[in-house]
Amino acid sequence: MRTIRSVATLAARSRALHREGVVIGMVPTMGALHAGHRSLIRRARLSCDAVVVSLFVNPRQFGRGEDFSRYPKRFRSDAALCHQEGVDVLFAPSLASMYPPGFQTSVEVRTLSQRWEGHVRPRHFEGVATVLTKLLSLARPHLAFFGQKDFQQAAIVRQLVDDLNLGVHVVVSPTVREPDGLALSSRNGYLTPAQRRAAPVLYAALRTGRAAVLAGIRSAARIRRVMLDTISAQPLVRVEYLAVCDLRTLEPLNHVTDRALLLGAIRLGHTRLIDNLLVKSPQRRVRQ
Ligand code: PAF
Repeated sequence: MRTIRSVATLAARSRALHREGVVIGMVPTMGALHAGHRSLIRRARLSCDAVVVSLFVNPRQFGRGEDFSRYPKRFRSDAALCHQEGVDVLFAPSLASMYPPGFQTSVEVRTLSQRWEGHVRPRHFEGVATVLTKLLSLARPHLAFFGQKDFQQAAIVRQLVDDLNLGVHVVVSPTVREPDGLALSSRNGYLTPAQRRAAPVLYAALRTGRAAVLAGIRSAARIRRVMLDTISAQPLVRVEYLAVCDLRTLEPLNHVTDRALLLGAIRLGHTRLIDNLLVKSPQRRVRQ
């Protein structure tokens, strides 16, 4: 495994791999790697000849008062995991290499960035889109791998790649969960033991929402109500949003007629957790 620290070296390595006809897969991360990242790396390893993992805690996607300064940094164990998984290139740039003095460009995917995470964390997705435009343009992967837990992020990346003709195929992998259902996240480590015990309630709420859809409930308001009722049983949890929305536009639905996305964010103390679940409404029986 080769560790690269500068953007110029990554671009040169990518040019060399392209010349050799190598299929490049990229897994962009902010480090503090867990089993969710491991599954993305394994998927990349299976479908690509060379795997590039980036480790960069991107300050531009953190708002004021968010956890940028305390975001976990574990270069040695992250590098060990990448080495174990057969990663070819570990790109761990310095802040100055990514954003040198005078840097002034920003990328915004407008409509998809407005709701949900974008509403609670203004400019978050602008930071994500900007750093990914840089990372994807430098590494020029054929495929890039993202987790479904960040569903809105993945939708924005697809739009970005399409709009800017970046020529990358975006692969979204299922969320990896703890045995009690909590979606893996580098932020789970912030939780106190009591908060950790309460945290799976978000996934439990999404599952009650899905059960309601499967039971034939179509009204989004009623589906939201059952999800909220599940969460309100946990006094440590504050709901930021719970939504029933269209898979493609992420706009809220009034009725679930076919497929839908149940989406939620909660706060436990200072820690925010997000999760989502895809649902398919049962087809109405056609009477003969
Ligand atoms: O999902 C993440 O870890 C980050 O948002 C990403 C995609 C690496 C961009 O910094």
